[in-house]
Amino acid sequence: MSTPAGAAEARLELLREAEARYAMPTYRRAPVEFVGGEAATLRDAEGRSYVDLFSGLSVHNAGNCNPRIVAAIAEQAAAFGGASNLFYSEPAILLGERLVESSLGGRAFLCNSGAEANECAIKLARRRAHARGIDRPEIVVLDHGFHGRTLAALAATSRLAREDLFGPLPPGFVAVPRDDPAALAAAVGESTAAVMLEPIQGEAGVHPIADEMLIVARAACDRSGALLVYDEVQTGMGRTGTLWAYQAGPVTPDVMTSAKALGGGLPVGACVTAPVVGEGLGLGEHGSTFAGGPVCARAALAALDLLSDPATLANVAERGAELEAGLAGHAAVAALRGRGLMVGVGLAAGVDATAVAAAALANGAVVNAPNESTIRLLPPLTIEAGDLAEGISRLRAALDAVAG
Ligand SMILES: Cc1ncc(COP(=O)(O)O)c(C=O)c1O
Repeated sequence: MSTPAGAAEARLELLREAEARYAMPTYRRAPVEFVGGEAATLRDAEGRSYVDLFSGLSVHNAGNCNPRIVAAIAEQAAAFGGASNLFYSEPAILLGERLVESSLGGRAFLCNSGAEANECAIKLARRRAHARGIDRPEIVVLDHGFHGRTLAALAATSRLAREDLFGPLPPGFVAVPRDDPAALAAAVGESTAAVMLEPIQGEAGVHPIADEMLIVARAACDRSGALLVYDEVQTGMGRTGTLWAYQAGPVTPDVMTSAKALGGGLPVGACVTAPVVGEGLGLGEHGSTFAGGPVCARAALAALDLLSDPATLANVAERGAELEAGLAGHAAVAALRGRGLMVGVGLAAGVDATAVAAAALANGAVVNAPNESTIRLLPPLTIEAGDLAEGISRLRAALDAVAG
């Protein structure tokens, strides 16, 4: 169903007015209302099609309305909506098993978002530190990292942790430069509970952390007894070409967090541990009403099936190479960063990323500008070569238009 152009404009204006009146103004929105989509195509209220190179912030990694995820959700929603975590529920238990067996081999705690997954990791790192006699545990994080918006996750996000606006923030977070192995090694000491980092920083504009930093982080944790925590909320679920990004890196963490694409479009997060962590958190020490509900858990199981499929992961490598090749050499492109289908396009001096994203949208390609000099591309992992080529050509046209 589509609405004529004038009517769609009027409808957008009504939405704008209602939001301005009723919603907290926390988001800057592009002037489009998407009303439908499948695979790597999104449709606006006028019926116009867009190539999706963003996957709703790496949520719809198997494409919008993936039929297998839709079927899993519909089937479970019709069969049974759940009875709380006070009773057994097969989908949640299977999901925990799948997560653990596909990664670190320890335990899983299910939750509903990336920030909550990180809160769980922070709680368990602190709890373990207290058990080791550390009264004031510290967590070492990297500058420019992003771990979420709840208070502890925010305190771990040095760039947004505004004490003047939200203080007092939970203490005990120490940030070091993301490219200084010596500073990282020096920051890890007797009171360190954990080193927490994204193997590729997403919100910062897709900045892979150098192998040397990861190796130093692992060694510092081994030396001090601290936990190495990888925030794989954005890098996980196949995004970089392996199910979890650490699987292609030089070291293995002790704890990993996931969310975004894990729920196949529904809100699911998880904190997963290695056996060294033991049970993690004990009876009554953590919990969440919605966590592991059967509908969300079934969606996550379907998403894991699709995104761990070797054919999907092979598509990530092939399409990722095409994406980079399709943008390399454009005069407005100064750098291409990332891995698989997580690509940061560093723009040449004077080329404004917000203007490029707006021009791309006008051309029918959805991309993201996480800062003024970067375009971030996170297409569905199932995108077909033809759709990707069309998306690249629309983005290139936007670069031409903005760079002149
Ligand atoms: C690496 C990383 N960690 C945590 C989060 C927070 O996830 P959520 O918005 O689901 O709380 C994000 C969200 O962008 C993220 O990219």
